[in-house]
Amino acid sequence: MSHELSAMNYEPSTMKALILAGGKGTRLKPITNTIAKQLLPVANRPILFYVLDQISEAGITDIGIIISPETGANIREAVGDGSRWGVRITYIPQPEPLGLAHAVKTAQDFLGDSAFLMFLGDNLTQAVVKDFVQRFNTQATDALILLKEVPDPRLFGVAELNSSGEVLHLVEKPKEPKSNLALVGIYLFKPLIHRAIAQIKPSRRGELEITDAIQKMLDNGQTVRSHILTGWWLDTGKKDDMLEANRVVLDNLLQRNVQGEVDTESQVVGRVEIRQGARVEKSTIRGPVSIAEGCHISNSFIGPFTSIGAGTVVEYSSVEHSVILERSRISHVERLADSLIGNGVEVKKGQERFKGIRLFVGCDSTLEL
Ligand code: G1P
Repeated sequence: MSHELSAMNYEPSTMKALILAGGKGTRLKPITNTIAKQLLPVANRPILFYVLDQISEAGITDIGIIISPETGANIREAVGDGSRWGVRITYIPQPEPLGLAHAVKTAQDFLGDSAFLMFLGDNLTQAVVKDFVQRFNTQATDALILLKEVPDPRLFGVAELNSSGEVLHLVEKPKEPKSNLALVGIYLFKPLIHRAIAQIKPSRRGELEITDAIQKMLDNGQTVRSHILTGWWLDTGKKDDMLEANRVVLDNLLQRNVQGEVDTESQVVGRVEIRQGARVEKSTIRGPVSIAEGCHISNSFIGPFTSIGAGTVVEYSSVEHSVILERSRISHVERLADSLIGNGVEVKKGQERFKGIRLFVGCDSTLEL
């Protein structure tokens, strides 16, 4: 290997990672009024934990997390010092959500002159990051971006490639996209990105866009390579994205593991997780389903692609394809489906007869149907 090439290579151990866990989660209000979107659970685990799994699997141990004034304390509490993943966390407050490139600017002291992996804390993908980092370390490139074909590229940053797959042009949320290749929220950069960020101006939405900074690298004659993701990618911005993320993760990653108590009048079918301290009585659970610690399920049916958070009670009800957070109570509801329900919510049936209902309810609410 030539000296020049080896000088361009970075070992994961000397690389850093930057997770962006600020932002307001506007599209997931009201749930995000009280919970940071990166801490919303998918299969009963915060999204951010999957991000940390992937970074630590890639061998990166020095991780900065960008936090906002609104939810920073909750993120710190959930992740702690990172020892659970064998990594070291530095929290970096970003006073205002002024864009992804602004977040990198805010983290400049932490990043120093290291190459780094940037990961948006609300993005979930199949385990691809380790390969992505290895690829970056063996290619002479200044940036490596991850792309995915999507049905509506107008919602994302979009890349235009030439016939040999080189990146020609990048545009943030174009009205008339030149391709269907969206930028996934996982990027690898050499420190040259800082120079590009210093050269860009805020976009129409008033943010310093990382997409514009990467375009600036191209304009400056630097190499930007791309990799097209064929596996799943979930951007958990909205209610239906959350339900889809829950479905995909339960479908792909959940193992059968019954630790809680199940009485003899109940049936547990397929890949079902019932954590310690949960009780299931006179009920049928048809996987894939995750039931967290301390839940009490009685006289009910819990159907596929459902996650029920810690301490929730479900009685005389039927629930499927739904995410229910912690300490809620679902009582006498005939058919709850396609729903996302916050912490401490009570849903109970009155005199009227309902068939199916679909709900998106924030925390600490009571609904009498
Ligand atoms: C951001 C990026 C966009 C990227 C997307 C991936 O968009 O600006 O280029 O495609 O993340 O999740 P935002 O979520 O800020 O709208």
